[in-house]
Formats: sequence, structure tokens, C-alpha cells
Amino acid sequence: MELFDVYPLYDITPVKGKGAYVFDKEEKKYLDLYGGHAVISIGHSHPAYVNSISKQVSKLGFYSNSVKNPLQQELADKLEKLSGVTDYSLFLCNSGAEANENALKVASFHTRKDRIIYFDKAFHGRTSGVVAVTDNENIKAPFNQNHKATKLAFENTEVLERELKKGDVAAVIFEVIQGVGGLDEASTEFYQKTAELCKKYGSVLIADEVQSGYGRTGDFFAFQKHNIRPDIISIAKGMGNGFPVGGVLIDKSIKAKSGMLGTTFGGNHLACAAGSAVLEVIEKENLLANATELFEYVKEKATEIPQIKKIKGRGLMIGLEFDFEIAQIRKELLFKHQIFTGASANKNLLRILPPLNIKKEHFDELFKALKIVLN
Ligand SMILES: Cc1ncc(COP(=O)(O)O)c(C=O)c1O
Repeated sequence: MELFDVYPLYDITPVKGKGAYVFDKEEKKYLDLYGGHAVISIGHSHPAYVNSISKQVSKLGFYSNSVKNPLQQELADKLEKLSGVTDYSLFLCNSGAEANENALKVASFHTRKDRIIYFDKAFHGRTSGVVAVTDNENIKAPFNQNHKATKLAFENTEVLERELKKGDVAAVIFEVIQGVGGLDEASTEFYQKTAELCKKYGSVLIADEVQSGYGRTGDFFAFQKHNIRPDIISIAKGMGNGFPVGGVLIDKSIKAKSGMLGTTFGGNHLACAAGSAVLEVIEKENLLANATELFEYVKEKATEIPQIKKIKGRGLMIGLEFDFEIAQIRKELLFKHQIFTGASANKNLLRILPPLNIKKEHFDELFKALKIVLN
């Protein structure tokens, strides 16, 4: 049977990973500065992670959500402690799209309203509701066109208030720092005003932290820098270091009702073992501080390369912006220097999303290669 051919593939076959590197079958070594789309948080095959999953699968890999699973509570407790956010409850699922889909559903159940506000260049996933609030018409099928969704621009609180005033908005969903869209982040004033307006008009504020959460920006959640409290926070990518885990943190004032949400695989024993190991490593290896420190290092190194016009993002969610398209640079970095990087909707932006335990010497490799590529 052939595979359903939707991905443009590189002719590279990684078979092994260790720390910040992946290796192909000929043992050719690639520096992973993209973490497989911001997924690899604690490095490939981290021993504590391998141990946690291996031990769990040898005991019990899976049972459904019809029985008690204390590993879910353990994960929730660790998440609360490390993130510092309190008075939320956790619902576990399997992916970023599913997390956001559940977030929208909870918001709609809670408010009994049905319209969602989203922003220019947003990416919230590919399933039906979330693709409707994603700013890319090419990935919306006719079936996805029937949701009530309104796209607005960041920073325009006047228009936002006009829309919220209509009274039918269940939620405002936003990425604190946009990923696929190209690392744009609105101002603290805008996020604070948005939170205030949501409260005033009875709409739910959803922070999509699928990519920017879990320590990636140096704060556990990117919204924490803006001093706001979203009603719902969606999480996924870094949570399982590659094991498919997603979740929604839901403000305790929003009450759960039996059957309101559900999933077969979400929060299973193996997923929790992966998720707990990730949080333990983030804490033990002080990876939030590492993300903050390395961003400063990257800013310093970037001054050596005059072609870099702007550095976007925070922590280890980084965009290096050039005043020309970077497709060729990415190709050369990958095929001549064996370095994975990422692209975005902004064709001039080189996206860097490495494991959170990356070291300065890895960035030295990148900047050395960039100098050669750009000469
Ligand atoms: C901010 C954001 N939200 C949601 C998603 C969708 O996540 P998934 O691909 O796990 O469904 C992504 C994926 O890139 C993302 O970056």
C-alpha cells in the first residue's frame, strides 16, 4: 500500500537520536535545531525519559479512561508546581489540534456561544474547528468553512471590542508568540486589554501554548511575561518529547460535566510516563534558565552576521530574520552542514526551535555554518 502523499520529504532517514543530534543509517550526524517542529524538549533519547517509558511499558502501557489512573494526577501536580499556574484543572489528549479543539469546545459549552475570534497569521491546527480559526485558506476544506470564525489584527482593541460587544463570541484564541506565522508577538498592553475585554463581555480567553509553552521561551508559559491569566491554556508539542501528548488547562471556575470531553488514548499510562519524565528533566536540568541564557548568547553571536536584520522570539523559540528569502540557506545548512532549521509563513525568517538542553557549542556550529553559507 502506498502512503498518502501529503508531506514534501527530505531525502534523509534518521534512525537514531541522542541529545541535540539525529543520525541516519550511515551514522551521518545531523544537528537538530528544529526539534522536529518544537517537539523535542529534553533532547533525543534522554536516559531519564527512556527509562521512565521503558519501565512503564513493562508494567502497563495502556488502559482506557474508564478506570483510575493516578499517573494523570501525578503529571498534573508536577505541571502545576513547575509552571507556577494554579487553580486550573487538566484534561489530557493527544495533539495540539486536539488540545485547541477541546479548548474551543469547552469555551462554547461554558458560554453557550458559538463564534470564535482569531488573529492574522494564526496557526491552531488542522482539525475541523481549529483549522477554521487558522489563517491559511489552502488547508481549509469546504467542510471547514461553516464554523463561525472572525479573523482580526493584533493591537486593534477597538475592533476587538466592537466584535465582542455583539455578544455571540465564545472565545478569543491566540498564540502568545506565533509559530508557523513567523514569531510575531503582540504587546503586553494588547494582551492585557484583550483579557479585560473577554471578562467584560463574557468570552473565554484561550492561550495556545502548544508551541510556546513548556519552557520554550524561558518562562514556563509565554503568556506569563505579559501578566495575564488565560481562562484556558492549550499545550502539546514539548510535553512528551516526541510521545504524542496534549492537554488543556481549564480555569477552575469552568466546571467539568461528565461526557463533556473524552478520548480513548489521551492521558494513557505511557503518555503520562513520558510527560512526567519531561517535567522532571526540565526541573532538574534547569532548562528554563538555559533557554533564557542561550537566547542572550544567540543575540550576541548574531551581531557577527550583518545579513541578520532582526531577531524575533524569546528563549529557544527564535527567528533570525534576513532581508532576503532563506529557503536556499536552509537547504545548504541541511545538506552541506547537516543542520536542521525551520521555515515559516515569513519567507525571510530562519526558525530555530532546538531541544531546551542545547548548549552554546551547538549554536557555535550554526553560526560557523551560517558564515560559510552566506559568503
Ligand atoms: C501554535 C500551534 N497550535 C497548534 C498546533 C497543532 O498541533 P498538532 O500538529 O499537534 O495538531 C501547532 C502545530 O504546529 C502549533 O504550532
